[in-house]
Amino acid sequence: MEKNQQFTTVIEDMNEQGEGIGRVDGYTLFIKDAIIGDCIEGKVIKAKKTYGYGKLIRILEPSPFRVEPLCPSSAPCGGCQLQAMSYRRQLQFKEDKVRNHLARIGGFQTEEIPMKPIMGMGAEKGGPFRYRNKGQFPFGRGKDGRIIYGFYAGRTHSIVETEDCFLGASVNGQILESVRSFMEDYKISPYDEVRHEGLIRHVLIRTGYYTGQIMVCLVINGTELPGGQLLADRLMEIKGMASVSLNINREKTNVILGEKMVYLAGGAYITDKIGDLSYRISPQSFYQVNPVQTEKLYNKALEFAGLTGGETVWDLYCGIGTISLFLAREAKQVYGVEIVPAAIENAKENALLNEITNAEFFVGRAEEVLPDWHSVHPEEKVDVIVVDPPRKGCDETLLHTMLQMKPERIVYVSCDSATLARDLKYLCGAGYGLEQVQPVDMFPMTVSVEVVCLLSKLKSDKQIDAEVDIDEFDLTAGGE
Ligand SMILES: C[S@@+](CC[C@H](N)C(=O)[O-])C[C@H]1O[C@@H](n2cnc3c(N)ncnc32)[C@H](O)[C@@H]1O
Repeated sequence: MEKNQQFTTVIEDMNEQGEGIGRVDGYTLFIKDAIIGDCIEGKVIKAKKTYGYGKLIRILEPSPFRVEPLCPSSAPCGGCQLQAMSYRRQLQFKEDKVRNHLARIGGFQTEEIPMKPIMGMGAEKGGPFRYRNKGQFPFGRGKDGRIIYGFYAGRTHSIVETEDCFLGASVNGQILESVRSFMEDYKISPYDEVRHEGLIRHVLIRTGYYTGQIMVCLVINGTELPGGQLLADRLMEIKGMASVSLNINREKTNVILGEKMVYLAGGAYITDKIGDLSYRISPQSFYQVNPVQTEKLYNKALEFAGLTGGETVWDLYCGIGTISLFLAREAKQVYGVEIVPAAIENAKENALLNEITNAEFFVGRAEEVLPDWHSVHPEEKVDVIVVDPPRKGCDETLLHTMLQMKPERIVYVSCDSATLARDLKYLCGAGYGLEQVQPVDMFPMTVSVEVVCLLSKLKSDKQIDAEVDIDEFDLTAGGE
């Protein structure tokens, strides 16, 4: 097919980005905003030899799974790829995605994957909308020169103006309007990433789902914000506002937050709860975005850890110690490892806040801290290792050390089922068995899915040692 050619097709599947897949005479087309079951008219916008990308022009017959999106910006905005699909069908899409990854990348037989039905979000507190406790809103200028804010349109950095994102807290709109009118009053420019000029890059807002506390952090391309104290005072009048800060980011980068913080009003953190534990969260720390589903996820991780009170547990990639503290109440000793120093400060404070004395935290890369610790304490028994890495999954050095430590159980929490599948293949190839796979819908309306898995040690320590050595031998041989 050629660019600009028109076509009609029935959408027979969807890819991982949530684009509809249709075929015309054997030629595959990926079509944004089309969902499985739609019959559509489209136009080719990019044509490669064996596949192309199409634009949806008209829906000729809607899919039985099609629903009216709540948000008027859901199509141009890159955030909610699945809002036009019924929630029930979204859940099936996510189960299929996890199963496919485990089979295709992990090498597991589809019918033998011990996967439970996904835990969806109920209607509590506005679910499956209004669940996000965090938003990072880019500021910029519209074509007419006005200051605008919103979200980046899918795969670009052009801002789609969004007055109210239906995934976030409804107070966000009031805060963002306050910042915009302050910028107009004080002639403060938004950041222009092409010219690397202008001051305000992003506004990060966090809300404590259960406590109602709010944090606002303005990310600036400078060292100070003229009139910043006045803005902070204005924001502090909003009910629940507990922290207003600046984050300094002068780099030409897509990374949102810089290293340095300046606190303008309130405290340096907000507090929220998961289950009956309280957590202090600072602007730079990772904290799960969907508190309702997080509680379900952590309870599952706790159940999979199978603790009876006598165990030593490592919680790798521990953030502010959320999972560590959940586990510590039922274990003898928990060690947490996290790369962000501010998060580890929070983790230590959180242990004190919840009167937990059997959790110890280390700052550093998991793939360095754990091997170092194991080389100093080679005989020390570890019963359970929990990992919850970022999207890129675990470093191979870390997986290798985990095998050397031979815990009875490994609990793997993942936000990317492709890297999860890769890492499970590594662990299961060396003596662990995949016992349970539990997807949890942490991100309704989007294509992302969280998964928690239980692995148990199936082979004897001697056999695992042999497998680990073989891996080392293979690596050396490959290098030669
Ligand atoms: C998906 S989050 C999980 C955090 C925590 N378990 C939770 O549920 O809130 C991943 C965490 O890993 C941290 N991280 C990223 N790379 C790391 C590394 N190499 N070693 C240790 N922590 C790392 C991130 O800063 C982030 O806090």
